[in-house]
Amino acid sequence: MPPISAADTAGASDLAPKRLTLNAEVIACGLPGTLMPGWAKGAYVERPCFGETGGVPEGLRVVGAYDDQQLADLIAYINSTFRKNFQE
Ligand code: HEM
Repeated sequence: MPPISAADTAGASDLAPKRLTLNAEVIACGLPGTLMPGWAKGAYVERPCFGETGGVPEGLRVVGAYDDQQLADLIAYINSTFRKNFQE
């Protein structure tokens, strides 16, 4: 993922969230090529990640702690607790 550029925040408060929804797939599946691990049970194996179930990409850590309901609860918690401008 590219670094934040001036274009991402142009015209908006620097403190405004860049998007209204967290990327649930990134939380579930992690970001291959980065330290961001996947949190979904069975990610890349039983649960498709980015459309594939071909196995965990090399170097990516899958924590595999959460089922779908727990991931939804985690995202709701982050949004309501840390993202003051978030609207459901
Ligand atoms: C439950 C705990 C976590 C949640 C909910 C979470 C959530 C996220 C989300 C939503 C993003 C993407 C932000 C965007 O859309 O740009 C992200 C990125 C990232 N996370 Fe996590 N994260 C967690 C734990 C971790 C841990 C434990 C690590 C490191 C050991 C980590 C490392 C990273 C990194 C390095 C990125 C940026 C990847 C990149 O774009 O280069 N995260 N995380």
